[in-house]
Amino acid sequence: MRIDKAVLGTKSCGQEIQGFDISAGDIRARVMTLGAVVMGIDVPDRNGSKKDIILGYDSVEEYLDDRFYLGALVGRYANRIEKGTFVLDGKEYTLTCNNGENHLHGGTRGFSTKVWKGQPFSTGKEAGVKLSCFSRDGEEGYPGNVACEVTYSVSSDNVFRIQYAAESTRPTPVNLASHTYFNLTGTTQHDIKGHELQLFAEEYVPVDDNGIPSGLTAPVKDTAFDFTRPRLLGQAMDQVKPGFDHTYVLWKHHKRETCAAVLYCQETGIGMKVRTTKPGVHLYTGNFLEASVAGKSGAPLHPHSGLCLEDQYFPNSPNICEFPDSILRPGDVFAHETAYQFFAE
Ligand code: GLA
Repeated sequence: MRIDKAVLGTKSCGQEIQGFDISAGDIRARVMTLGAVVMGIDVPDRNGSKKDIILGYDSVEEYLDDRFYLGALVGRYANRIEKGTFVLDGKEYTLTCNNGENHLHGGTRGFSTKVWKGQPFSTGKEAGVKLSCFSRDGEEGYPGNVACEVTYSVSSDNVFRIQYAAESTRPTPVNLASHTYFNLTGTTQHDIKGHELQLFAEEYVPVDDNGIPSGLTAPVKDTAFDFTRPRLLGQAMDQVKPGFDHTYVLWKHHKRETCAAVLYCQETGIGMKVRTTKPGVHLYTGNFLEASVAGKSGAPLHPHSGLCLEDQYFPNSPNICEFPDSILRPGDVFAHETAYQFFAE
């Protein structure tokens, strides 16, 4: 178990940005207080050689300029809210629209732009950091003061875990998600098309060209969206252009923990199982990354050089009553957990 803390830089307003390096057994993760970003996760490949399997940048300045949400914790509401409006308990709310005419990932000053407070901890089995942030009533148009905690930890059984907790003083939509891009080859020189993906979802959420759902969920059976058996992403992406940007249904009515996905890379032998308590997992194949932007070691962030498996509520849930309820009410806690179990074979 090991935790190292360092000052990585300062925001223009003078706020200090801290980084935490946490390790346990063979797994090591680097996270920072800016945007609660996961900057890196090192895991052994099948030969025991360590690979960093997360997209990111080399400097804090680049993270401050980021527009792809690399590694960031997105909120107050991850994904889209149509036209940035919703009606809650009879009152209409208007949010910042930052994705065409829609609201995306909490708006222009979402949780990914905040400097969180970091508190490292270690127990016999794990090393971690508890990050907390506060979102005031009216921020980006949302009602209620929200206090939010996200705990990242690693344990010697090669698990990277995220625990979420949020409370609000007024009813508000909350959908917190990690926007970490994975590339299990350990380099962005190879895209993710050679990865095999299995999603334990019989249904997905069809969307229009702007990523807004119709309100229905649809069976994946006999469609290009079916990942119930492991599939090579490249083959699947040939059928769904320009790649996937779709939420898969894990549960609709009763909250439970499920195994959402298994991602595997033949080249390194690195695999990852994702377990979550959230109702959906959003598969985003990095369609909007741009080679003109450099990631770690100056390597271009080509489209599809990483993929996100964002476990979250369904897009636009505040406007669709058939979707799992994303409204957090005073006295309740938004409590969720995601575990990424790494293996090599
Ligand atoms: C999400 C969205 C994508 C895109 C990325 C950020 O995952 O679903 O459409 O906006 O974030 O680039």
